[in-house]
Amino acid sequence: MSAPKKLFIKTYGCQMNVYDSERMAEALGGQGYVETKSAEDADMILLNTCHIREKAAEKVYSELGRFKGLKAEKPDLKIGVAGCVAQAEGEEIMRRQPLVDLVVGPQSYHRLPEMEAKTREGEKALDTDFPEEDKFEKLKSRPKAKRGPTAFLTVQEGCDKFCAFCVVPYTRGAEVSRPADRILREANDLVERGVREITLLGQNVNAYHGAGPAGDMTLAQLIWELDKIDGLERIRFTTSHPNDMQDDLIEAHGTCAKLMPYLHLPVQAGSDKILKRMNRSHTAESYLRLIERIRAARADILISGDFIVGFPEETEEDFQATLDLIEEVKYGTAYSFKYSTRPGTPAAERPQVPAAEADERLQRLQALLTRQQREVQDSMVGRELGVLFEKPGRFEGQMVGKSDYLHAVHVQAPTSQVGDLARVRIVSSGPNSLAGELIG
Ligand code: 5AD
Ligand code: SF4
Repeated sequence: MSAPKKLFIKTYGCQMNVYDSERMAEALGGQGYVETKSAEDADMILLNTCHIREKAAEKVYSELGRFKGLKAEKPDLKIGVAGCVAQAEGEEIMRRQPLVDLVVGPQSYHRLPEMEAKTREGEKALDTDFPEEDKFEKLKSRPKAKRGPTAFLTVQEGCDKFCAFCVVPYTRGAEVSRPADRILREANDLVERGVREITLLGQNVNAYHGAGPAGDMTLAQLIWELDKIDGLERIRFTTSHPNDMQDDLIEAHGTCAKLMPYLHLPVQAGSDKILKRMNRSHTAESYLRLIERIRAARADILISGDFIVGFPEETEEDFQATLDLIEEVKYGTAYSFKYSTRPGTPAAERPQVPAAEADERLQRLQALLTRQQREVQDSMVGRELGVLFEKPGRFEGQMVGKSDYLHAVHVQAPTSQVGDLARVRIVSSGPNSLAGELIG
């Protein structure tokens, strides 16, 4: 048997890409590849790219340029670009950077094995179609490799919302939900392989409407089906849009014990003028009322969000409205970004906020969010929480895991193992994590 070929994948961007990279590694496993952590060792390098923010394509080109020397030393080295930049740039990538052998869009990963074979024949391989078939169904994983205690599972892809700043509807295409039976099969398989917590992924995950045995299912119905799987202890989902937060999903947060008290619900901005220009189709008020309803179902739920500052024509007053909304919601975690122009999106044509102003606003916003996050984290001290151990800590007998609220927790737990779901009393709160002790 020939020595296995080595695959180096570099993943940028969101959890969806992390999941996709795992699937690509599995698909190429069938072609005799094993993963390596070093580009220098690799027979194939794949960049799984992200296009969400500025200069993504330029960064990919400069990264590719760095592989020139490697390719000169190793002419058989194959270089591929996957992900949203691949989708957006397509053939242009091979034109601008001839050392690229393969360009594959997010909807075509199941075709990687044939594409790889083509590159071995010395040809270029390009696929950025949006096929109808379920790529994950085709991406059969290798037999029962043991997995860590947490896993992502993509249930929905693409987006029809067309927020004025966002490339996702163009790079990931229209919203598509996977059929429920396939998701449940995959979830059962993950649990058999050691997974205890599944995070359902989708660009618009709560718009899920996959085919079920009796018509389309909602995300909440899917969660209740997952709830029946023995050995699966925790369910999460991300990312949600406020307008798709249906009643049954809100209710599930109050009644489904496996559904964790954490919700990532981006609002982007707090000014109705800006929200309208962003094409968000919700207002600050409707978002706040929604948060109220969610907290009525599950009082202790941790709310997480995304924010954009310096969206075209944002005034100081508009920005202040965002700060006011944040004060009212009190976020447990948040991701905040300075608006960056994505060519081809509607907002790219509008008058831009000067960079220095946007920078200054971002700093103020982040100062407020950091303070809130710390307060929420500190409020965990004294509480008894579930912690799912993910790996040993830096010190002897220490384990590190995530609480129900997704905070990292360090616990002195010498006899515990990775994958244990422990009851832990939180004793202190540090800059980036909590410390706790086992109960009982
Ligand atoms: N500029 C800045 N932030 C953006 N996001 C998406 N597009 C842009 C952009 N053009 C942010 C949004 C989204 C998150 C994933 O990335 O906040 O929710
Ligand atoms: Fe982009 Fe808006 Fe769709 Fe989220 S909801 S992926 S921000 S278009």
